[in-house]
Amino acid sequence: MTKLDQIRAAESKLLLQTYDRNPILFVRGEGVHLIDEGGAKYLDLLSGIGVNALGYSHPAIERAIVNQSRALIHTSNLFYHEGQAELALRLTERTGMDRVFFSNTGTEAWEGALKLARAHAGLLRSEGKQIGTKFLALEQSFHGRTYGSMSTTYKAKYREPFAPGVPGVDFVKFNDVADLRAKFSSDVCAILVEAIQGEGGIRPLTPEFFAEARKLADSTGAFLIVDEIQAGMGRTGKWCAYQHYGIKPDVTTLAKPIAGGIPLGAILCTEEAARAIHAGMHGTTFGGGPLACAVAIAVIDAIENEDLLKHATEVGDYFQQGLRGLAKAHDCIKDVRGKGLMVAAELDSADLAKAAVAEMLKRRILINCTSDTVLRFLPPYILERKHVDEAIKALDEILTEKAAAVSAAHQTAGGNNRG
Ligand SMILES: Cc1ncc(COP(=O)(O)O)c(C=O)c1O
Repeated sequence: MTKLDQIRAAESKLLLQTYDRNPILFVRGEGVHLIDEGGAKYLDLLSGIGVNALGYSHPAIERAIVNQSRALIHTSNLFYHEGQAELALRLTERTGMDRVFFSNTGTEAWEGALKLARAHAGLLRSEGKQIGTKFLALEQSFHGRTYGSMSTTYKAKYREPFAPGVPGVDFVKFNDVADLRAKFSSDVCAILVEAIQGEGGIRPLTPEFFAEARKLADSTGAFLIVDEIQAGMGRTGKWCAYQHYGIKPDVTTLAKPIAGGIPLGAILCTEEAARAIHAGMHGTTFGGGPLACAVAIAVIDAIENEDLLKHATEVGDYFQQGLRGLAKAHDCIKDVRGKGLMVAAELDSADLAKAAVAEMLKRRILINCTSDTVLRFLPPYILERKHVDEAIKALDEILTEKAAAVSAAHQTAGGNNRG
């Protein structure tokens, strides 16, 4: 029995069976590669689902972990430590927001953002304004797995087994301005969007829709809350994807790559939104601990020192160009889209998308499929053009083989029919 077999057998008895894992045991990472127990190297175009922005074994992260773990790992939020204000300053300067609350994960940041919206609406009501408690989320949205996040996530498969969810959520058709207008009213305390939907298939908001959401929210004092958990922290070539649109939210959320793989999330908000929160209303034991903050500071500094926003834009454009080239040769590619290193190729069939991910894995390239038919690429920001070339070549071969197999099957079926 290999070590992997032993672990699989143990997990199958001991863990809740929530994950459909690939049968690979990773033991190390270097740059943009993961290495399995047998020493085989995999090109990682998924970076732990958008987390490992600086790839693996980055010296800035290692240094921050070593130094901070020697000094102080945890204190609780009952006391001060050096990291939170320093990190909050970096984040507010880069995002245009005023204040920060640190959480541990994306879903927890999103929960806090929802609570902030309801608390703020309550404050406005106490000041005589007419504003309700309803949330308007978008179709195909994904905001996480805890109750508020799950309830504002579109797909029924995430919500229904755990019903009833948090009440007061309505879903607007994606990028449908008329539907947004029809569903918006003074009952709404917040419009909830991802500037570029991640799990929903790397789908950007149209500027018209985003601007209308901002305008409607402003008309009543409701919040526009932008979930940047997947798109934020530089992945799209700007610190936040909303910055591509020139739109400022009232509240935004960050997580995934913020601390290079150490769990950390953040709610960022305006001074106006922050009026709704006073001591004791919200909190966390671990959120914003010294270790996570020190690593996040190191990640932000490395992104800037290595000019990775520009790099992500350039390599991302190169990636999309490569995929567009493939689309000319392969009819099965229906669309290529994304921004920076948040890239997608939409195929015409869920079976083909699934098979392509599996074949890429056989060639030791990690990608995944989201929204059934969308091949998703969320590589580390340090990805180079040669890695893109490797991925495009592999995908070209796979789609060529699959097309040949389909055509052979048709011929056989045609032959059989004639027979
Ligand atoms: C846009 C978005 N929001 C929220 C989440 C939830 O984050 P986490 O898995 O850290 O709870 C995710 C995770 O994929 C996400 O992509």
